[in-house]
Amino acid sequence: MQSSVKHKLLEAFSKADGDFVSGQALADIIGCSRTAVWKHIESLRQEGFELEAVRKKGYRITSKPDKVSENELLIGLETVRLGKKVVFIESVESTQKEAHKLAEEAEEGTLVIAEEQTAGRGRMTREWHSPKYTGIWMSLILKPNLPPYKAPQFTLITAVAVTEAIRDAAGVMAEIKWPNDILLNGKKITGILTELQADSDQIRSIIIGIGMNVNQRQFPEELSNIATSISIEKGETVPRAKLVQAIMKNLELYYDEYMTNGFGLIKDKWESYAISIGRHIIARTVTGTIRGKALGITDEGVLKLQDENGMIHDIYSADIEI
Ligand code: BTN
Repeated sequence: MQSSVKHKLLEAFSKADGDFVSGQALADIIGCSRTAVWKHIESLRQEGFELEAVRKKGYRITSKPDKVSENELLIGLETVRLGKKVVFIESVESTQKEAHKLAEEAEEGTLVIAEEQTAGRGRMTREWHSPKYTGIWMSLILKPNLPPYKAPQFTLITAVAVTEAIRDAAGVMAEIKWPNDILLNGKKITGILTELQADSDQIRSIIIGIGMNVNQRQFPEELSNIATSISIEKGETVPRAKLVQAIMKNLELYYDEYMTNGFGLIKDKWESYAISIGRHIIARTVTGTIRGKALGITDEGVLKLQDENGMIHDIYSADIEI
């Protein structure tokens, strides 16, 4: 099936919001006969969509395949700018690397997403395990009119947006661990990698990489103590496209909030979702280990840690143990 026909069909079903769309209406939208509509409906079924057909009512989608390609993401996407342009690649080394290549030409809100990454990367050049069809591996390109020193705040904006998306769309209590991990029942389900293309005084693009463990049933042994997936913890699989859509919606909301009113609301939300704030933690930095109470974060995302002697330390980068 031609992708423009498929796009039109899926858009019509999306607008109908679960209701029936008549065969004639679909024929008019696509510009074909009703027999051809039937053939297109069969093609959608071949791709894993389930459609109900009722005489005199027409067709409606009852379930979508769990894919994260362009069409699945566009049906039901509630944003104005973010995720409207999707670059879907079935298998890629790293969506982050692809987004870097596309950033200069890309429009703001372009989302690069893959079913599998063969060389996904995390913070501090760590490897990011990204097996096929089970997770969300994506990189979003933003172009805020801001100086580069503001960029770290986008990691915090993203953490808030993603945490709320997981809570709402998957119904599980995700929490934030400073600086940019999202945990479920104490194990990591999501990592965020924020990177920049910038001049000395102006951001050209921010590339926000998000890796989320959604439907994996198992992890390699070296990860199984520290990482988990939403489906392992919840006991059922979760539609990935719905999660991506919720992330895009929240990110657009908090991005707009940030550009209009500044960082205040986002900082409050970040602190309320963070597991470490108010608790005694161990911060292992490159210069040594500090034990103390996590007081909160600054507007730049720096962690304030008060040691046993009452001295307050600014932690810029560390591994945190709770
Ligand atoms: C972390 O170290 O916690 C950050 C992990 C970020 C992984 C994502 S997956 C999509 C994007 N592409 C990559 O290669 N990395 C990021």
